Amino acid sequence: MENKILILNMKMYMELKDIKEYISKVNVTNDNIILCPTAIYLPYFLKKYKNLAIQNIYAEDLGAYTGAISALQVSELGIKYAIVGHSECRNHFNETDELINKKIKSALDNGLKVILCIGDNLEQYKSLKTKEVLKQQLHKDLYNIESQNIIIAYEPIFSIGTGNVLDNEMISNIISFIKQELCDMNLDLPVVYGGSVNSDNIKELIKIKNVDGFMVGKSSSMIDEVLKMIKVVSS
Ligand code: 13P
Repeated sequence: MENKILILNMKMYMELKDIKEYISKVNVTNDNIILCPTAIYLPYFLKKYKNLAIQNIYAEDLGAYTGAISALQVSELGIKYAIVGHSECRNHFNETDELINKKIKSALDNGLKVILCIGDNLEQYKSLKTKEVLKQQLHKDLYNIESQNIIIAYEPIFSIGTGNVLDNEMISNIISFIKQELCDMNLDLPVVYGGSVNSDNIKELIKIKNVDGFMVGKSSSMIDEVLKMIKVVSS
């Protein structure tokens, strides 16, 4: 079995003392593990890890954009990936699919690989609009993009931070749909699942045949959890 991808999205959960302990205790044994610390801590992580992602980027390379960080700046540091379109950025920072499309193009143009997050909310899920919503996001976010340097992360918004994980059959069904949609767009990309993944449920989730890996939030900031999840995806 090929090793599954494990994307550790630490969000804004940790402070400096936690970061130092994390780096001293977490050893990465597998090329498919991608660490995504808060941006200001990336230089600490660069001393030890190869596969790093920034949690968000701005769509322009350089200029008068106070507070922003560009794909160009990130790639110059040796960071390989950028998360784009996370639901927390779509919601808190009002990011539209059009902006997300620009960010993806900027990341790819600057040699970064992209982790594109898509997902439905509870209302859309309950009214059976999941596939329609995901299709729209895929088509708008990936408009005019042909690169294979993209990982799709399917993260149902109502599963993020809630402990409500969809059952394996449902996740598998949605992943098949996403892969078919990508195929229709001439793209063959890995698709990972995210939303309340932890060291316990990952043992069950890993049985889903068509899932290419996982994107983890809260548990990725907990050292014991991370060590156990690394073991599961590496075995
Ligand atoms: P949780 O694992 O905290 O639910 O977050 C998932 C997520 O948003 C990863 O990007």
